[in-house]
Amino acid sequence: MRILVIHGPNLNLLGERETQTYGTTDLATIDAALKTMADKEGAELECVQSNNEGDIVERIQKAGGQFDAIIINPAAFTHTSVAIRDAIAAVGLPTIEVHLSNVYAREPFRHHSYVAPVAVGQITGFGERSYTLALRAALDLLAK
Ligand code: DQA
Repeated sequence: MRILVIHGPNLNLLGERETQTYGTTDLATIDAALKTMADKEGAELECVQSNNEGDIVERIQKAGGQFDAIIINPAAFTHTSVAIRDAIAAVGLPTIEVHLSNVYAREPFRHHSYVAPVAVGQITGFGERSYTLALRAALDLLAK
């Protein structure tokens, strides 16, 4: 089981950015927790972060044949990016969309996701635990 975790724009600032919304845990700590969990389950995990839409599109395209599933927090691109949505649809890997905050409890512009219709499902609002819940979901999905 090979799983690619993609973190979108501004998530490199986790731990210092809008901590009342996103918490005080930094991205390296989240990635380390995911790797520990994946190791225990015998899964391979790669975590990447990018602030650039094109980089994320290319990473998704290259994931075909290299990974079995994608976990993605597209961050602000969730609400804007047809290109990321199309890349996920093109590569055809089961994809789980993640958000730390509950996007539906926030501003109306965050209520629409271009990614959700091409994802297996969406996990939103559990803080850093959204990621471990997403990894659990991906592992269960791949074990089937
Ligand atoms: C986010 C929610 C998005 O609306 C926002 O643009 C982010 C982070 C989240 O994890 O809660 O950057 O994806």
